Amino acid sequence: MDINSTTGAVYIVASLLFVLSLAGLSKHESAKNGLTYGIAGMAMALVATVALVVDVATDLDGGMISVLLTLAAITVGAVIGLWRARIVEMTGMPELIALLHSFVGLAAVAIGWNGHIEGSHHALGSLDNIHEAEVAIGIFIGAVTFTGSIVANLKLSAKMKSAPLMLPGKNVVNVGSLVLFAILTIVYAAIDAGSTGQDVVLVVLTVLALALGWHLVASIGGGDMPVVVSMLNSYSGWAAAASGFLLSNDLLIVTGALVGSSGAYLSYIMCKAMNRSFISVIAGGFGIEAGPGGEKDYGEHREIHADAVAELLAGASSVVITPGYGMAVAQAQYPVADLTAKLRAKGVNVRFGIHPVAGRLPGHMNVLLAEAKVPYDIVLEMDEINDDFDSTDVVLVIGANDTVNPAASEDPSSPIAGMPVLKVWNAHDVIVFKRSMATGYAGVQNPLFFRDNSQMLFGDAKERVEDIVRALDRVPEVSGAAIHRPALV
Ligand code: TAP
Repeated sequence: MDINSTTGAVYIVASLLFVLSLAGLSKHESAKNGLTYGIAGMAMALVATVALVVDVATDLDGGMISVLLTLAAITVGAVIGLWRARIVEMTGMPELIALLHSFVGLAAVAIGWNGHIEGSHHALGSLDNIHEAEVAIGIFIGAVTFTGSIVANLKLSAKMKSAPLMLPGKNVVNVGSLVLFAILTIVYAAIDAGSTGQDVVLVVLTVLALALGWHLVASIGGGDMPVVVSMLNSYSGWAAAASGFLLSNDLLIVTGALVGSSGAYLSYIMCKAMNRSFISVIAGGFGIEAGPGGEKDYGEHREIHADAVAELLAGASSVVITPGYGMAVAQAQYPVADLTAKLRAKGVNVRFGIHPVAGRLPGHMNVLLAEAKVPYDIVLEMDEINDDFDSTDVVLVIGANDTVNPAASEDPSSPIAGMPVLKVWNAHDVIVFKRSMATGYAGVQNPLFFRDNSQMLFGDAKERVEDIVRALDRVPEVSGAAIHRPALV
């Protein structure tokens, strides 16, 4: 068997492993196996590709230099990747992922330009126009992904304001850019291959795509960032697939299509979670303008201490915990798991309610809870638990804010009106863990904090949960499920 057939066979196995990986990642129980399949597929793909490079290079003058350069690039990339993965905090994951997407975009632009230079030297006869369309489309998707991901990285790491850029006629700018791209692609394919005119058209197309990527993400407001993260994930897949066509690499086409389509599906899920259509996200501005609802006076909030929360919990028969970004910041998942175990041992029915966009990346809360070994079967999705709050004694809102904001469902003037939220306010008692009265990611005030059945437990979520775990040991055993109403502070 020659090296090409061997590599082709390995690529097919790697593609299957990637499909299995995606299937595994769709469920908590199988996620670890999914990751193993993905790692195995990628390792096989890398080895097969390097073997192919070595085989081709040995027949070329100075080929070994190419091999050494390839190996050096892989080593440097692997070392940086390992280092970043080891030091990244869970809260820094979204911006790291955005940065990684930008690399895929940049690589697609480089491969596209390489295809342009190569293509102009080696005429491909009747396939010329297809090759040129691949070059133009690959560079376009890659460049949009590149700058869009950089803006997403800057916004998610708070190095750039999350408020949207509101250029006049921004939708005309977006649609006009797409039309211009289509015209430039046709002109690029029609002009003589290798001519200066073709070079100029491709430079203009690249700059247009870079500017569009920047504008698209810069003009999206904070509340829509979940959709942007998954949208860029999808773009990076399509950019990789476009590169696969240019390099005639089947594995890259398959992998790119898998990432592109699964990212598109994730965007759909995110849009559904935010009750938004994809077009309205691009046309944008969700959750930004404070509007008249932003300055409302909701009255006074009330505070509670950890000891009193412990008493309340010990007397409860059902407790729901709704974690949010603050749990990730505080790394409170371990004491939360301890608290859960303690309450369950006392016979309290403890469950978790997870909002689809809680935290800063899809599945953020699920990952943290799994890390702390919270049993999967008590971790429920928003739709599975939303009708149960009426019959819940105590809800612990641990570092969540936008995802439990009643204004989203009750106040049509709210900037987040229409976004489905966890209806925690229907419970008997709501305890909100946060450090201050500051707003959440969307910058919108939360009337939940001022409700009669809500009490604020201020401080770092991890420290406060640890206080409650200690205080629980001091609470005498309660028979039955009588709810204590501790004195307010
Ligand atoms: P947020 O609305 O972001 O609120 C988190 C709250 O945690 C803040 O109000 C903050 O209040 C509190 N907090 C921060 N550090 C804390 C600590 N150490 N201890 C205790 N509390 C702490 O959270 P959420 O409800 O999870 O909503 C997520 C938001 O992020 C949504 O608007 C969503 O659209 C957006 N978003 C989501 C994603 C994805 S894919 N999930 C991606 C990008 C953006 P204090 O400062 O007062 O403590």
